[in-house]
Order: sequence, then structure tokens, then C-alpha cells
Amino acid sequence: MVSSTCLAELGHDVEIIEIFEDKVRSINLGIPPIYEQGLQEMLSRHAGNRLKATTDYSDIANSNVILICVGTPPKNDGSADLSMIASASKAIGEALKDSKDYHVVAVKSTVPPGTTRNVVMPTVLEHSGKCSGEVGFVMNPEFLREGLAVQDFMNPDRIVIGSYDEAAGDLFAPIYQGLKAPMVRTSLTAAEMIKYASNAFLATKISFSNELGNVCKRLGIDVYEVMNGVGMDHRISPHFLNAGAGFGGSCFPKDVSALIHLAKDVGEDPILLKSVVEVNERQPMRIIELLEKRVGNLAGKKVAVLGLAFKNDTDDARESRSIPVIAELIARGAKVKAYDPKANSSMSKIYPAIDYFQSASDALKDADACLVMTEWPEFRNLDKEFDLMRSRAIIDARKVLSCKDAEGICW
Ligand code: UGA
Repeated sequence: MVSSTCLAELGHDVEIIEIFEDKVRSINLGIPPIYEQGLQEMLSRHAGNRLKATTDYSDIANSNVILICVGTPPKNDGSADLSMIASASKAIGEALKDSKDYHVVAVKSTVPPGTTRNVVMPTVLEHSGKCSGEVGFVMNPEFLREGLAVQDFMNPDRIVIGSYDEAAGDLFAPIYQGLKAPMVRTSLTAAEMIKYASNAFLATKISFSNELGNVCKRLGIDVYEVMNGVGMDHRISPHFLNAGAGFGGSCFPKDVSALIHLAKDVGEDPILLKSVVEVNERQPMRIIELLEKRVGNLAGKKVAVLGLAFKNDTDDARESRSIPVIAELIARGAKVKAYDPKANSSMSKIYPAIDYFQSASDALKDADACLVMTEWPEFRNLDKEFDLMRSRAIIDARKVLSCKDAEGICW
């Protein structure tokens, strides 16, 4: 959704092929089916003009460049499910059957190294009846953060283009004309791996900060003071060193698991990556331990959970760290009072039976304890609202609060 709208903003004619009719209708009316900062304004400029959505694959043959942007969710064993990649490739192949033109098929989805070469290429070629020189193949990973995706698209650190042959990459590269960023040209597999490696490294930085943060907490040190000093080293950089509840979302957990699976498949034991996941999975339990230290047995206690989205500025609750925390609260007999500025509805699909509130104050009323789980800026100045609780037992899992008496998970 973001890539297509931004490509229209760069001046291209873009057609989105989407299988859900309600989404197609919504996009064509200029209403994005997801929340992203700045997307609504940009989409309303281009919907119905340079940008159109349809459920019909047949127009694909009129495009120079075809981007595959489907999901690659985790299977039960942690490996990436490539069924949507395969079905999109098949549909593209069939749509290109009668075309006399040269087309470039580019994979934007996050896929294990080898997927473009071994799944996308043969499927498109088989179903189009063409040979490899007649269709170009590119792998072009995306590095957009949810919530900041439009800004990230327009101001990339780098654009990675892996290609099967030089000509495909040359034809594809100009779609980003107008953006100021170094272009990294690689093989297909290196581009696929750059995406996994980037996400795995960022996840590693977070787990590293969390592990050190847990040690710092025991020593009475504020890990944020430590990481502030550490991040000033240009070889380290200050980003993604924020300790707290750990990483969630639809990318880091799934991509690190897929990389672990991939490493094992080729006979490597990825001990570092396995630890990154383990630290992340333990972190929510530390919040529960801290909570019990503060308020004792949780049975019958009312606990306000502020923040349900996996991070701020999104309504997305996928793999949110609030999910295991709420599960544990329920298991220990607590009554959960939840509030998120945008993600109440997403979380209610996972936990329909807990109580949701329309403001932090409403959730805090009569609560025995409060857990702050997402780094929403609107939580920063909460203070007198905590007086609505039975007692001010406040645990901040994101270092977002400014009031003096909140206890930090790693500080
Ligand atoms: C991540 C990457 O940052 C993007 O570059 C990538 O394109 C995207 O995945 C993807 O693969 O599609 P995203 O999942 O949207 O983006 O969100 P992040 O901002 O990376 O945050 C992920 C999680 O890490 C959140 O739960 C956040 O709270 C947590 N986090 C982030 C920390 O705990 N500490 C930090 O210092 C930073």
C-alpha cells in the first residue's frame, strides 16, 4: 500500500492488484485500508488518477515493472510460508502469456535467499511460456518501518537491487528516480539476505540492550544512560538500543525465526540468533515478576495495560509484547483493563473477553497496578491520572513515562 502510493507520488502510473474487493473499493475512494502517517493525504492525491486498484490480473501485461508485495508469514516450524509468493508468480506468468514486451518481475516481499531464483523465476516462466531472457527478475527488499513507512520510502538510507542479469536491474532502477540514496546492486540472493541480515541485526541490538538492561537493573544502573554513552560511538550508532519489553511486530520475530530455520537447514547452529529470540521471549515475564513484587499475588487484582500496539503510531498488534503479558495476567487470575490510542480493536480480536477503554484515565480508574507496554508519546505526561488508581504501582516497560515514581523494567 505504501510503496504503491509513494511510487505514484514519484510520478509513475501504478495499479494495485488486490484480492479483497473491499480493500480495492476503499483504495479507489482514496481511503487507505491501513493506518500509516501521511498515507491518507498522499493516497487522496493519486487515487483514481495515477493510482488504481483492481482484483483483475489481466492488466499486468501493460506494466513494465511488476512488484510482488505479498506476505510471507511464518509456518509452525518458523520457516517462511511462500505459498502466496508462488500463487502471485503463477498469476503473473499467466497474465504475461500473450505479451510481446519485456517485463521485469521484482520481489519486494521478504523471502529466504534462493526464493526469487528457485520459486518466482521458474513459476513465472512456466506459466507465461517464456524463456529467461524475455522476462527480467529483480529482488528489491524494503526497509520501511510501520508508522514511519511513507517517510522511510521517501528518504531511504539505501536502495538494494538484486538482479538475475544486469539488464533487468537497469530497467528497474529508474522507478526510484527522484529519491536521494545510494543504490546497492547485488545478486538476487545477496539482496534477499541483506533484508534478513538487516532485521536480524536490529533485533540483536534490541536483545543486547535488554540483556544489559536486566543486569543494569540489578546493579541499580539506568541502562538508558549507559546506551546513550555507548551509542555515541559512530561504529555502534544510537538507534535501536532502547531496552524494555522487547521487539514485536510482523517482521523482527518472523524474520529472525526464518533466518534461524534457514541456518539450520544448511547445517549451521545459529547460537547468537537463537539467543536474540530467547532474550526477547523472556522479557515480558520480567514485567510480570516485577509486578508481583510490587502488588503480590495477582489473583483478583485489576491491572491497567496501557499500550497494545507492537509500537507507537500504528494500530497493529501483531506479535505485540502486550500479548504474552496479557496471557500471563489472565492465567494468574488478574482482571485486565486495556487501553491503546489505536489498537484496541486489533487486540480485541486476540482477547475479546478483556475490558477495553477509550482513554488512559478510564483504564486506570480503580486499578491496583499499571503496565505501560507501548511507547506512545501521549503516555509521556501521565501523572495525576495515576491517582485514579487504588495505589500508584506503575511499571514502565518502554521508558516513556516522565513521572518520578514509575518503576522501569531495565532501569
Ligand atoms: C522493522 C524494520 O525496522 C524495518 O526496517 C523493516 O522494513 C520492517 O521491520 C520490515 O521488515 O518490514 P517495524 O517492524 O515496522 O520495522 O518496526 P520497528 O520500528 O523496527 O520496531 C520493531 C519492534 O522493536 C517494536 O516492537 C519496537 O517497540 C521494538 N524496538 C525498537 C525496541 O524494543 N527497541 C528499540 O530500540 C527499537
